[in-house]
Amino acid sequence: MDNKHTINGSKLRLLFVTSEAYPLVKTGGLGDVSYALPNALRQLGLDARLLLPGYPTVLEQLSLVEVHENIRFYPLQNPLRLLVGTMPGGITPVYVIECPELYERDGGPYQDSSGTDWEDNALRFGILSKVAALFGDHNLLFKPDIIHCNDWQTGLVPAFLKFNPKSRAQTVMSIHNMAYQGLFGTEVINLFGLPPESFSIFGLEYYGKVSFLKAGLFYADWITTVSPTYAKDIQTAEYGCGFEGLLTQRNQQLTGIVNGIDTNVWDPKTDTYISHSYDVKNLPAKFRNTQALRKKLKLPQLKNAPLIGMITRLTEQKGIDLVLPIIPDILKTGAQMAILGSGDKNFEKRLQALAALYPNKLSVTIGYNEELSHQIEAGANIFLMPSKFEPCGLNQMYSMRYGTVPIVRRTGGLADTVIDATPENIKKQIATGFVFETKSSTELLACLHRALQSFRNKKTWRQLQINGMKRDFSWHTSAKQYVSVYESLIV
Ligand code: ADP
Ligand code: GLC
Repeated sequence: MDNKHTINGSKLRLLFVTSEAYPLVKTGGLGDVSYALPNALRQLGLDARLLLPGYPTVLEQLSLVEVHENIRFYPLQNPLRLLVGTMPGGITPVYVIECPELYERDGGPYQDSSGTDWEDNALRFGILSKVAALFGDHNLLFKPDIIHCNDWQTGLVPAFLKFNPKSRAQTVMSIHNMAYQGLFGTEVINLFGLPPESFSIFGLEYYGKVSFLKAGLFYADWITTVSPTYAKDIQTAEYGCGFEGLLTQRNQQLTGIVNGIDTNVWDPKTDTYISHSYDVKNLPAKFRNTQALRKKLKLPQLKNAPLIGMITRLTEQKGIDLVLPIIPDILKTGAQMAILGSGDKNFEKRLQALAALYPNKLSVTIGYNEELSHQIEAGANIFLMPSKFEPCGLNQMYSMRYGTVPIVRRTGGLADTVIDATPENIKKQIATGFVFETKSSTELLACLHRALQSFRNKKTWRQLQINGMKRDFSWHTSAKQYVSVYESLIV
């Protein structure tokens, strides 16, 4: 352990505020990052702690002790309680806001079970931000030097602290996805007691609405995003979602730090979800996982057919609409496909219709399934991730760690983490996947043909697998980059 990171002899104190954290609650990569990054920071000697809403799954999984009761916020009917526990299997203390009227309901963290956003999301996440700001005032037992905010759900924290003369903490705003901006009506200003001048183009106003994300981007002391390429991308009109001007103005305080992965949770050698463990020295054992996956998904055991995996939120972002029209062509090559995902109902239906047409070649599982996601990473030969934009992406890194060769579009974190199998890169033994450029089904299919050609060459394929498995995707380096950002704010 490295205990260098101290201020006046005590550890740097960090409050990591997030709307989801694996294994308590997870809808995507933010959940994984919120588990692994604070852990990595603690290993570097920081006193990092989490703040999360008390959804039912969080309250069920943690043993919690009360630290504060009767915290009253207008317009809540009842006071809320602040509880503390420790991450399951981890080392990070977690503060949980117990507030049944906001968080204890069936459904997901952001949406009800039919996929509609909760009507009171402004209040639900405004209160999360209010509680974080209380920590920032140093009014509670834990007095953070830095509050690290994540995505729009925590965007009001920097605004609250900026307008509070008693605030003692610096803020970092991390963008995991620019496409979700937290847009609400102007009543939010009065609701949370923000000064009227904040509702300005130089503030949290966005086309006549209040944007929680813009509040974070405008008022935070520093901005980070989850890969260097995405940090550049979001300064352009194509990827900036309207905030490219603000981000360009603030680019001296904007850092792109590529996500790591939790190499304990995602390790084919120790993964308890998969039937046969393996590593780079025992790669042939991976095939047994392919067989097990086929069996589980009721796909026939075809000896030389590649199995293509996809695990994804079914949204435009992930390029699923590029995949859908070419599924028949992909299957014509002799490949099989295993797709796991949930999201847009239209995409779900179209995938299910195709699965009914090709029962021996295409398996589609609609829903969220952590176990199956590990089994697909272990069992598939190729992983498809043709995202239209991708702030970082974790599945391509999980894939490489599992010897599953990714096919990705050159964007955001995919561009930063996958090295294309050009003849030159193959020769240099650095290629780890297949990369295509434009948002086009035809290009994707051409790239897939390129991958299939290499798949037939056992030696080349083995080398691609090994190159990926040997890469270090752990959090260590990236967590140190976050520490540099925090330290630059408090000296
Ligand atoms: P994003 O956060 O944009 O969805 P990432 O690649 O960063 O994309 O992270 C996605 C995470 O969510 C991964 O851990 C992936 O395995 C997981 N995931 C996505 N969809 C599902 C699903 N249907 N079932 C299980 N895990 C899923
Ligand atoms: C977002 C992004 C994804 C990123 C994840 C964690 O959901 O879409 O690219 O990996 O956040 O930072």
